[in-house]
Amino acid sequence: MKKVDVILGLQWGDEGKGKVVDVLTPSYEVVARFQGGPNAGHTLEFNGEKYILRSIPSGIFQGGKQNIIGSGVVLDAVLFREEAEALAASGHDLARQLSISKKAHLILPTHRMLDAAYEAAKGSSKIGTTGKGIGPAYTDKVSRTGMRVGDLLRPDFRDVYARAKARHEAILRSLGFEYDIAELESRWFDAVEYLRRFPIIDSEYAINRALAEGRSILAEGAQGTLLDVDFGSYPFVTSSNTVCAGACTGLGVAPNRIGEVYGIFKAYCTRVGSGPFPTELFDETGARLRDLGHEYGAVTGRERRCGWLDLVALKYAIMIDGVTQLIMMKSDVLNDFDTIKVATAYEIGGERTDEFPYAIDGGLKPVYREFEGWKCDLRRIARYEDFPAEFKTYVEFIEHETGVPVKIISVGPDRSETVVR
Ligand code: GDP
Ligand code: IMO
Ligand code: MG
Repeated sequence: MKKVDVILGLQWGDEGKGKVVDVLTPSYEVVARFQGGPNAGHTLEFNGEKYILRSIPSGIFQGGKQNIIGSGVVLDAVLFREEAEALAASGHDLARQLSISKKAHLILPTHRMLDAAYEAAKGSSKIGTTGKGIGPAYTDKVSRTGMRVGDLLRPDFRDVYARAKARHEAILRSLGFEYDIAELESRWFDAVEYLRRFPIIDSEYAINRALAEGRSILAEGAQGTLLDVDFGSYPFVTSSNTVCAGACTGLGVAPNRIGEVYGIFKAYCTRVGSGPFPTELFDETGARLRDLGHEYGAVTGRERRCGWLDLVALKYAIMIDGVTQLIMMKSDVLNDFDTIKVATAYEIGGERTDEFPYAIDGGLKPVYREFEGWKCDLRRIARYEDFPAEFKTYVEFIEHETGVPVKIISVGPDRSETVVR
C-alpha cells in the first residue's frame, strides 16, 4: 500500500509551496489540497508564464495528473470559477483533471461580509485576514451549521442556503455592519452551477482506493504551521489545521498512511497580517529583504513583513509536523548580504530558551548567530557541489540544528531554478 506524502509550510505561509508542488508532481499520480481556501495564493512560474492558484491544487500543470480539492478545504464558488476560467483561457483544461470533495465546505457571500464585520469590530486588534470569509466558513463547519459541496446535489439546496444567509444577516445586523451582497450573491449562484460541471466525489474513498492500487499521492498544504489554529501564534492564525495532522483530517487518510513530510521554509522569514513575529526587522535590512524577495501578498498584494530565519520557530514546526525532509526556498534573495543572521534561541526575562513559548509577543528577544554572506548569484547554480562554501555552511548549520536534511534548495521562482540533492 502506498503512502501519502505531505508538503507543508513551516513558517507563516508563502514559503513557496506552489512552486515545489509543481516541481514534485511528475513523481506523483494524485495531488490533493487538504485545508484552507482562497486565502491561499500559490505561485508557479515556468516557460516565462506565471500563475497564481487559490483553491486548485498546484499539480494541475504537469499534465494528466488527478487533482483533488479535499474535504478539509473551504471553497468559494465565485473565486473558484474565476480561477478555473482563467486557467481554461490560458489553455489548461481542468475538466478531466480536477475533482472536488463532497465534504468540502462552501464559503457563502455572507461569510465574506462576516469576515469584514468581525475584523472591523476588533479594531486595532484585528487579525488582518485575507477577507475571504475563511474564519466564518470554518466557524459554521465546527458549529455544525455549514453548507457542503455535496449539498449542491440536494433538491432543497436553495432553502438550506436561505436559512444560512438569514442566520448570518442577523449577526451582521447585530454588528451594525452595512453591506450589499445582491451582485455577489447572483454571481455566487451562477458560479455554483459552474461548479457542478466538475466531479463531486467521495474524496476519502478516491484517495484510499488510489493508495490501495499503488498510486502515489502528494498532499498540498496551504498557509503555514505558525498559522495553524491549534499550534500557531493564536489568535493571529487562520482557522484550519495547517499542520501535518491536517492532511489526515482534511483528506480522510489514517496517520499510518502518511509517508514523507516535506517541510518548506524560506532562507529568511516573512509574515503577512497582524501578530507576533520575533525576528521581524523594522530597519532597512527588512525593507531590502522585501524588495529583493518581492514580498507582497499573492492574494491581497499586502506588504509582507520580513525578518531573519527563526530556528526556534522552525524546530517547533518540524516537531509538530514530523518533517522528514526540508526544502529551503528563496536562497537567492540573500545573494548580496554581507552578513546573514539566524535566531537560535529567545531571551525572555533574562532567561534563554530554545522552545517556542506560549506567548511570543512582548519582552522576547531573539539570540542571533551571524553567518558570512556568499556574495554571489546562486540562480545559475544547478548542483549542490557548485554552491559557494559560505552558502553550504548556512545550509549545513540548519541541518545540524534541526537534525533534518535539506533535500531541495530553490534559487529562483522558476520551476527550473531548483537544486535537488
Ligand atoms: P506559497 O503560498 O507557499 O505557494 O508561496 P507564494 O507563491 O505565496 O509566495 C512565494 C513567492 O516567492 C512567489 O512569488 C514565488 O514565485 C516566489 N519564489 C518561490 N521560490 C523562489 C525562489 O527560490 N527565489 C525567488 N526569488 N522567488 C521564489
Ligand atoms: P498561502 O497558502 C500567508 C494569514 C492572513 C492573516 C491570517 C488569517 O499562500 O501560504 P485568514 O484569511 O486565513 O482568516 O487570515 O492568516 N494568511 C496567510 N498568510 N500565506 C497564506 O496562504 C495565508 N492565508 C492566510 O494574512 O494574518
Ligand atoms: Mg502564498
